[in-house]
Amino acid sequence: MDDASLAATRVALVTGAARGLGLAIARRLGQLGHPVVLADQQDEVQASAQQLRAEGIAAQALRLDVADADAVTALPAQLAALGPQGRCWDRLAILVNNAGISPKTDGRKRLVSEMPLAEWQRVLAVNLTGAFLVTQACLPALCARGWGRVVMVTSQAARTRTPVPGAHYAASKSGLTGLARVLAGEVAAQGVTVNCVAPGRIASAMTQAVDPATNAALAGLIPVGRLGRPEEVAAAVAFLASDGASYLTGATLDVNGGNFMA
Ligand SMILES: NC(=O)c1ccc[n+]([C@@H]2O[C@H](COP(=O)([O-])OP(=O)(O)OC[C@H]3O[C@@H](n4cnc5c(N)ncnc54)[C@H](O)[C@@H]3O)[C@@H](O)[C@H]2O)c1
Repeated sequence: MDDASLAATRVALVTGAARGLGLAIARRLGQLGHPVVLADQQDEVQASAQQLRAEGIAAQALRLDVADADAVTALPAQLAALGPQGRCWDRLAILVNNAGISPKTDGRKRLVSEMPLAEWQRVLAVNLTGAFLVTQACLPALCARGWGRVVMVTSQAARTRTPVPGAHYAASKSGLTGLARVLAGEVAAQGVTVNCVAPGRIASAMTQAVDPATNAALAGLIPVGRLGRPEEVAAAVAFLASDGASYLTGATLDVNGGNFMA
């Protein structure tokens, strides 16, 4: 089977794919021939999938709040309903846990000393527990086919001190790295790899919540001299989702223009 025919048998599910990095990841995987399912809590996800279909990609949309445990329980049935004879579920091979939030108040993070418990809990629920729930729901399909890829979109904030995101965000992304490491060991024998991509500062709606002067100052500190592009994160995810990454598991790929070097 050639690469494109093989990719067509490997459905990819990308969470938080209505826009930003998630949409770029779905587009890249779709361009490589994977049927893609874009999952997002926003209605906008329908238009994003439509946009990808107009580009010739086999894309479908799902409304999903990854932090809603009941909704995630229904995910296998929803995926089965998306393709003929359960095809999207039976062919599910790639999961990208990308959905995430980084709340700001008046363009700034809240300090730990002033952070409401509800804000802390929501960030952990979406960024960490959401990835846990979706991964747990998808594992039966990935393990059954004996070939699977799970990619967590973490952050430079999981790797080192960063001034802009809050402590909840850093804690959630560090937690995601730990989840990936343990899971990688648990499913390696079943042909499933689990890795992280840790983006630095990437131009998206999330980073635009901070004022342009702050982003310009941060860009000046990045060796490459600019913010990253969503497509540059998508390329790293696509590599980790490929056959070429078969001996890579439990690892983190830094995509940050040289801003942090481990
Ligand atoms: N942009 C950056 O600089 C940067 C850096 C490091 C990591 N990241 C991570 O990359 C991921 C994507 O970030 P982005 O910049 O594209 O952000 P974004 O805000 O532009 O997009 C995030 C998407 O996730 C969706 N989402 C949020 N909560 C959800 C939920 N509960 N269920 C389902 N979908 C939900 C949103 O609707 C949105 O479409 C996030 O996990 C973020 O933490 C981004």
